[in-house]
Amino acid sequence: KKIVIAIDGLSSCGKSTIARQLAKELNYLYVDSGAMYRAITLYFLRNNIDFNNKEQILNALDGMDLDFRLNEQTGKVEMFMNNENVEYLIREMIVADKVSEVAAIPEVREFAVKQQQKMGAKKGIIMDGRDIGTTVFPDAELKLFVTADNAVRVERRFKELYQKNPNITIEEVAHNIEMRDYIDANREVSPLRKASDAIEIDTTNLTPEEQLQKVLKIAQN
Ligand code: C5P
Repeated sequence: KKIVIAIDGLSSCGKSTIARQLAKELNYLYVDSGAMYRAITLYFLRNNIDFNNKEQILNALDGMDLDFRLNEQTGKVEMFMNNENVEYLIREMIVADKVSEVAAIPEVREFAVKQQQKMGAKKGIIMDGRDIGTTVFPDAELKLFVTADNAVRVERRFKELYQKNPNITIEEVAHNIEMRDYIDANREVSPLRKASDAIEIDTTNLTPEEQLQKVLKIAQN
C-alpha cells in the first residue's frame, strides 16, 4: 500500500473529485490542503490582519488551531478553525478573492506545510493542492497532476457556487479562477508546478466514472 498520494493542479481542475473518489475506493484519508489556506484567510479577514505586517501575521498564526474532522452523517471531512466549523464559510467568494494572496505569504506556507507533513506521517493519505508533489511530499509514492481546459474549469466551479448563491455570475467566477491561477503559479515560495515525476491527467473530456477508472489503474500499478 502506498503511504502518500499527492494530487496537484490549477483551481477547479477536478483534483478534489479525483482525490475523494480514490480515497473512498482505496480507504485512504483525504486531506484538502486548500481548506487550510482558506481557513487562515478567513481568520485574517475577520481580524483585519495586514497582509504586509509580518508581526501581525505571526501573532495570528501563533495559537491558530486548524483541524479536519469527520462529519459522521455525510462521511465528509470538514475544516475546523479554533473549534469552529468553517467548512461552509471558507467556500464563500469573499475568501476565494483573497486566499491566493494569503497563500503567497512565506510564513503562512511554512505554518501550513508543517502541519500537512505531520498528517502524512500517518496511514494512507491522499492530499490535494498546488505544491503537494513538489514541496509537501516530494517523496510521495504516487503523484498526479490534473489539468482541464479553462472553460470547463470555470463552468464546473460556476455550477458548484451557483447552488449556494444564485446571484453569482460566470464572469465573477472566471475572473477569480484566472486571478488565483496567476498568483499561484507566480508566487515566490513553492509556486504551482508539475513535479517531474507526476503523471498528468486531463479531465476535460472525462466523466467522473471514467476519471476514477483511469486513476485507479494508475494507483494500483
Ligand atoms: O484548492 P483550493 O482551490 O480550495 O485552494 C484555495 C487556494 O489556496 C489556492 O488558490 C491557492 O492559492 C492556495 N493553495 C496553495 N497551496 C496548496 C493548496 C491551496 O497555495 N497546497
